[in-house]
Amino acid sequence: MSAFGKNGEVTLLPKEFSKLSKEQLKTIGPLFNKTKIELEQAINNKREAIRAKSYKKLDLEKLDLEPAEIKNRQGHLHPITQFENQTAEIFKGLGFQQFDAPHIDSDYYNFESLNIPKDHPARDLWDTLYIEDRASAHIDAKEKNYHPGELLLRTHTSNSQVRIMEKYKPPIRMMIIDRCFRYENLDARHEHTFDQFELVYIDKTLSMANLQYLSEYFLKAIFGKDMKARLRPKYYPFTEPSAGIDGLCIFCKGKGCKVCGGMGWLELAGAGMIHPQVLKNGGIDPNIYSGIAWGVGPGRMSMIKFGIEDVRLFNSGDLKFLERF
Ligand code: DAH
Repeated sequence: MSAFGKNGEVTLLPKEFSKLSKEQLKTIGPLFNKTKIELEQAINNKREAIRAKSYKKLDLEKLDLEPAEIKNRQGHLHPITQFENQTAEIFKGLGFQQFDAPHIDSDYYNFESLNIPKDHPARDLWDTLYIEDRASAHIDAKEKNYHPGELLLRTHTSNSQVRIMEKYKPPIRMMIIDRCFRYENLDARHEHTFDQFELVYIDKTLSMANLQYLSEYFLKAIFGKDMKARLRPKYYPFTEPSAGIDGLCIFCKGKGCKVCGGMGWLELAGAGMIHPQVLKNGGIDPNIYSGIAWGVGPGRMSMIKFGIEDVRLFNSGDLKFLERF
């Protein structure tokens, strides 16, 4: 029992004071009060000191649950970002500038301005995610041919083409490296969200020869000087002629293997000479100017370069995968 508690000796002591004479009480009363206060203070001080000491000790003993490897681990750029930065540097060196176009865009810029009218079968090439509500989109309502409700997630970076032509006068050297979206059946080669690298080059005397040269220049810069590029006839509504850009298969060097399906070549991009109608849509006279454009898949090129078997790994957030780069 403590001396200062409800029934403590010191607390109860004044009850005995009735036994004292008036004279005795005069000296003992104040002495008792003074001593009691001093004792209480001394006890409090001691208590505080003990508390402070144990807190300090607790602080020192704090459990460090974070393993040293995690604390010191440093992040790095995502492999696709590394690839894209390298690409941007290569083309910056050739005088190309980077351009931004909206992820949420109108049907006009994603399709119609590119010579793909409504209900045209070519639209089947792009499985599109349409958006009903335009409230959240940053689209200028004065846009040409804009019809309310015709918003979509851009299916390719080609939605930048006519926007670029509207903004700049030729000669034009632009690149867009950014996200696109499609309503895909997901598998090892298809993702709903992926990047594209679009090149738009407009000048007076451009031809397929320039396209061939630029394609090989790019592929050599990425894969090494033994790389070769070839153009193969293909169809896109916004290019004429259109081509697929193939790179020599880096696994078999053209002999034919499992990865390239025995062809010796891997398809890396869609490309072509910009269709005269698309130039006209952008206010550029196709009798004076011609243009080269391509759309490359940085994901696909990175998969080939780094030997990645499943495109879904890129956005999986799997550290074991990401730490390989
Ligand atoms: N936009 C096309 C696609 O996503 C790729 C493409 C083809 C881009 C030809 C171009 C081009 O600029 O000229 O499939």
